[in-house]
Amino acid sequence: MPSAVSTHATTGLLLREVVGALSYALDLTEGQPPGHSMRCCYIGMRIGHQLGLDQDLASDLYYTLLLKDAGCSSNAARLCELYGSDDRTLKHDVKTVDLQSLRSVGKFVLSHTGVHAGFWSRLKLLWHLARNGERIATEVVQARCERGASIARQLGFGPRVAAGIQSLDEHWNGRGRPAGQSGTQIPLLSRIALLAQVVDVFHRVGGHAAAVAEVRKRSGSWFDPDVVAAFEAAAAQLYFWPQLAAPDLHDTVLDLEPTAASTPLDDARLDAIAAGFGAVIDAKSPYTSGHSSRVATYSGAICDVLGLDAERRRWIHRGALLHDLGKLGISNTVLDKPGKLTEAEWAQMRQHPVLTHQILSRLSPFQRLAMVAAAHHERLDGTGYPWGLRHDEIPIETRIITIADIWDAISADRPYRRGMPLAKALEVMESLRGASVDPKCLDALRLALPEVDGPRANVDSVQALFPAAATPADAPAARS
Ligand SMILES: [Fe+2]
Ligand SMILES: [Fe+2]
Repeated sequence: MPSAVSTHATTGLLLREVVGALSYALDLTEGQPPGHSMRCCYIGMRIGHQLGLDQDLASDLYYTLLLKDAGCSSNAARLCELYGSDDRTLKHDVKTVDLQSLRSVGKFVLSHTGVHAGFWSRLKLLWHLARNGERIATEVVQARCERGASIARQLGFGPRVAAGIQSLDEHWNGRGRPAGQSGTQIPLLSRIALLAQVVDVFHRVGGHAAAVAEVRKRSGSWFDPDVVAAFEAAAAQLYFWPQLAAPDLHDTVLDLEPTAASTPLDDARLDAIAAGFGAVIDAKSPYTSGHSSRVATYSGAICDVLGLDAERRRWIHRGALLHDLGKLGISNTVLDKPGKLTEAEWAQMRQHPVLTHQILSRLSPFQRLAMVAAAHHERLDGTGYPWGLRHDEIPIETRIITIADIWDAISADRPYRRGMPLAKALEVMESLRGASVDPKCLDALRLALPEVDGPRANVDSVQALFPAAATPADAPAARS
C-alpha cells in the first residue's frame, strides 16, 4: 500500500524483494533466527556458482532456497500435539540432532516431549512416539514437503522450484523422507538447499569450523559429495564467511538473483504471492483454517459497498490476506490451546501484530501496508492492542480489515464449535458499533450480506452467503 489512493498500474516492486522480505515469516515458523532463509540463499547460490549452473537453473535455485520452508506451517499443529511442546523449539532443536544416532534421537525425544505435562500425560506421549515414531516422522515431513511445493506453484513458480522444495528432506543415501529418494534421483536444487540449511544452522551454533565439519561428516550420507566439494570450494573464498555474517547480507542476497533484475512484479503476481502467504498462515492452525482468505473476501465485499476504487480495494485485499502473518511466530501451544490463555500466553498472542508489522515493513514500499494490516486488533476507543491506537490513528483500510476479522472470528466454524448463526453474529457486531468498530464499515458489512433479513433469513451459515469465502479444499484437516 505505497499510497492508499495511488493509481499506479504496476507495483514497481521486484519479485526477489517481495519474496526476500516475506521469507522472514518462514524463519519464524521454523524457530530460526531472523534471516535464516536469506542466509541459506547466500550459501546455496555460492554453491550453485561453483557448480556452474546456467542462469535459468540458478534462478530456480534462488527461489527454492528462499521458499524451502514454505510448507513448514502445515505440520506445526501436528508436531505440537504429538510432542505436547512448543513447535518452534522442536523445529529449531531437531536441526542439530544426529538423526542417524539412536542415542541422540532418544535424548532429543526425552528432553522435548511433554515438557510441561504431568507424569502420566508425558508417559502417554512418549509411548505413542516410541510405537509410531517412524510413521509419524514420515507423515510430518510429507505434509511439509507437499504443502511447500503446492505453495510454490501457487506463488507462480515452475516445476523445478516446486520439486526442489518437495524433496528438501531426502538424503543422498536414500534414508531421508518422505519418498526415500537417493543419489541423483533427488533434484539438484534440493541437494543444495539441504546442505545450505545445515551449514547455516551449524554456523550459527558453532562458527564456520563447526559448519564445515558437519558437512564433511554427512558427505555421502545426507549430502551429495559433489555438492559438498562445491561448498568447500565456495567456503574457501576469502569473502564467503565475512559476507555471510555481514549486516548487509540482505542486500547481497538480493543482488545474487540471476535473472529477475529487470523484471518488475505485476499486480496479478503480487496478488498470488499475498494469497500464497495467506495460505501459509492459514495452514499454521486448524483452529483458524481458511481465516485469512475469508477475511480478504469479506474485506473485498465491504470495499465494494463503500465504493472504493479498484487499486485501493486491491491493497486492502492483500493486507487482509497478510494481517496475521505474525501468527507464524506464535507457538501452537498458545494458538491451539483449548482453554483460557494465561497472562503470559496472552502477552505472546499480543505480539503477533508486532511481528506482522516487522516483516512487512522490511520492504519500504510496504510501510503503509504493514501498518494497515498490523493494526487489525486496534479499537476505536483505544482498548485494542498492541499499540492502543484511537479513532483518527486507525485508517479506514484497517477498520475494514478489523470488521472482516471479527466477523470471521465469530461466524466461522471451528473444530470445536459451529460458527455463530447470522442473527446472533450480527447482534454481537452491533454491540461493538462505535466504541470498537467503525459504524460505516459495519453498515457496509450488513449491506454486503445478501438478503439477511429477507427470504434467506433461515440461512444459518455465514459462509453459505459468501461461497468465495469457503475454506479452501487443501486446507489442513480440522483437529478432531
Ligand atoms: Fe490477528
Ligand atoms: Fe485474524
